Amino acid sequence: MPSVVIVYQSGFGHTEAIAKSVVEGVRRVETTDAALINADDLKGPGSDGTLGPEWDALHRADALVFGCPTYMGTVSAGFKRFMDCSGNIWGEQRWRDKLAAGFTVAGGLSGDKLNTLVAMSVFAAQHSMVWVSQGIMGAGEINRMGSYLGMMAQAGNAPPSETPPPEDHETARRFGERVARATARWASGA
Ligand SMILES: Cc1cc2nc3c(=O)[nH]c(=O)nc-3n(C[C@H](O)[C@H](O)[C@H](O)COP(=O)(O)O)c2cc1C
Repeated sequence: MPSVVIVYQSGFGHTEAIAKSVVEGVRRVETTDAALINADDLKGPGSDGTLGPEWDALHRADALVFGCPTYMGTVSAGFKRFMDCSGNIWGEQRWRDKLAAGFTVAGGLSGDKLNTLVAMSVFAAQHSMVWVSQGIMGAGEINRMGSYLGMMAQAGNAPPSETPPPEDHETARRFGERVARATARWASGA
């Protein structure tokens, strides 16, 4: 079964909550499998440069969806650590031709979230992955920030049980569904 792995990092739980909604969206497509991995659980390379078995699910996946909060106008440090740990994978081009997509959560309506998605898409390009866009017309209740490169959510000053709002969670589900359909189509032609 084609598999989508969502790799996320979250300081205070808002991005984790949105990541779970992306998973729900992937699972709307019954022919596609979804797994959620916290980037903080992925250890860095050992002294010989090799990565541990917790990375195997990423190597096996047909698509990787990247998610992190926007901190200081770009990816969070925790997510950047994950990116930098993939240096040897880049060297081997081991993720070549997997699909990739991204989402981010920020406090501001803009908050410079686009820069985070740009960083993720450049990261995917370095790995020779194929980027899947958000694919939902904005900016009504769904995709209310009118993002196209990837999925955006906005969290206010409240716990993850209260914010981002339900429409952002539904945007995340529809985004997950789009990635799942693209993955099924991509994997069938592999
Ligand atoms: C260190 C730090 C930097 C932040 N920088 C931004 C920013 O540049 N733009 C913005 O809109 N929000 C910013 N925020 C707010 C977070 O993006 C927001 O609280 C988000 O929901 C956090 O997600 P998390 O709960 O998954 O960590 C920042 C928060 C922190 C802690």
